[in-house]
Amino acid sequence: ISKMVKICCLGAGYVGGPTMAVIALKCPEIEVAVVDISVARINAWNSDALPIYEPGLDEVVKQCRGKNLFFSTDVEKHVAEADIVFVSVNTPTKTQGLGAGKAADLTYWESAARMIADVAKSSKIVVEKSTVPVKTAEAIEKILTHNSKGIDFQILSNPEFLAEGTAIQDLFNPDRVLIGGRETPEGQKAIKVLRDVYAHWVPVDRIICTNLWSAELSKLAANAFLAQRISSVNAMSELCEATGADVSQVSHAIGKDTRIGPKFLNASVGFGGSCFQKDILNLVYICECNGLPEVANYWKQVVKVNDYQKTRFVNRIVSSMFNTVSGKKIAILGFAFKKDTGDTRETPAIDVCKGLLGDKASLSIYDPQVNEEQIQRDLSMKKFDWDHPVELQPMSPISIKQVSVVCDAYAATKDAHGVCILTEWDEFKTLDYQRIYDNMQKPAYVFDGRNIVDVAKLRKIGFVVYSIGKPLDSWFKAMPAVA
Ligand code: NAD
Ligand code: UDX
Repeated sequence: ISKMVKICCLGAGYVGGPTMAVIALKCPEIEVAVVDISVARINAWNSDALPIYEPGLDEVVKQCRGKNLFFSTDVEKHVAEADIVFVSVNTPTKTQGLGAGKAADLTYWESAARMIADVAKSSKIVVEKSTVPVKTAEAIEKILTHNSKGIDFQILSNPEFLAEGTAIQDLFNPDRVLIGGRETPEGQKAIKVLRDVYAHWVPVDRIICTNLWSAELSKLAANAFLAQRISSVNAMSELCEATGADVSQVSHAIGKDTRIGPKFLNASVGFGGSCFQKDILNLVYICECNGLPEVANYWKQVVKVNDYQKTRFVNRIVSSMFNTVSGKKIAILGFAFKKDTGDTRETPAIDVCKGLLGDKASLSIYDPQVNEEQIQRDLSMKKFDWDHPVELQPMSPISIKQVSVVCDAYAATKDAHGVCILTEWDEFKTLDYQRIYDNMQKPAYVFDGRNIVDVAKLRKIGFVVYSIGKPLDSWFKAMPAVA
């Protein structure tokens, strides 16, 4: 392909939108069309209120939209015209049938591949951008070549490593870009075309080229390793609470070892987000399918520890409040799965809130980027429903009655018995905790699931403070949490 390159991306989500916007910005001579089957999503991308909140994204989109970046629902037209087709559709966990609860649901993927085969009239490079099980490229190749009327398709795996909340920064300055392709001359030629796109702004020594299966597996492996660090430090946090060690001091001390490194060692109420759990479950399933039960169990434990951490947090709250939160107002500060995003997929806040609602608490929730409708929907959905929009359950009456969503932290905490910090938003670090304390029921509790408050300062104000993995005050020692 030597003429001007046209790119089309299927799926205008958290990955497709920002990734393509950055490609358009960095490669002004490339025309980029982002297409989606969701009309509402495309309309939002074409409006001033983008469908996702991501620092820096608005500026990038504003600079390129209408010039070389287009958002459209005319999927077939743009696919037919493109030289490179990125597939960035959702690949949720299967909820039914073979592999339910673990395997990746490739329904969206397969229908995208069949559509590409249907409408293509010229050779194309098809790029797996979505996170997929290792060996998916083989299945996609079969679909494309058996339906293609003799057109040449090259499949590349180019997994995305951006994290939400820092997507633009991550895309501008990636640790690496990974491109996997066939080891044939045609495969290598396709790798070069995609490498030339990224080379507009990524130093070539950070563009890694591998075979297809290494690229596909590296994405699952990277997420499994990252999540494993969190479960490891979270497991340590319980031991810290039992012994008087401080998990932040332990993290700092071990992170100084250059072999371990300082990042991703923050103890928390548990990891969330659309990727970690889904990708580990998928990895576990692949191991099981390959007859590797020990390896499967090793990785499964990362998810189990994460679930345990959320349960442990709820148990700590209930047990320290005299074993009942029935009818008590609890303020929930933060609902998104991390700061600087409005995304609530798999957020630990859902499990914590459901646990407290199960004990009949009444919740007052505040998050700077998540609206009431989203919170009510999340609390009435079943596990995994979030990524299966068609199967949405009706709202349960319990959540409507017991949950209120308010527009600031002071309203949430007024007359509350306890405050739970579930997302590390910067604004929660600088709240007027004296004012909050004065307006709360006594004893007033703070349960910090993100280790962002100054424990000594809050205790001085009069709060009973629980902070993950920090030495417990005597209040909690008298009432140990029963898991
Ligand atoms: P998303 O749900 O935000 O977006 C997917 C979009 O694809 C949706 O808007 C959906 O309407 C659209 N879609 C589905 N089928 C389609 C079709 N046939 N044609 C056109 N559009 C179609 O998902 P996401 O968070 O962007 O994730 C996409 C993929 O990237 C997943 O495989 C995920 O695992 C992976 N990933 C996500 C992240 C992240 O931080 N969210 C990071 C790295 C990788
Ligand atoms: C993750 C991967 O980091 C990214 O490379 C991949 O492309 C997609 O999945 P994301 O889920 O967007 O990104 O955010 P991430 O920063 O990884 O955080 C995931 C969860 O782990 C959040 O709930 C976060 O709060 C939690 N976390 C992270 C911790 O609890 N402790 C830490 O030290 C780091």
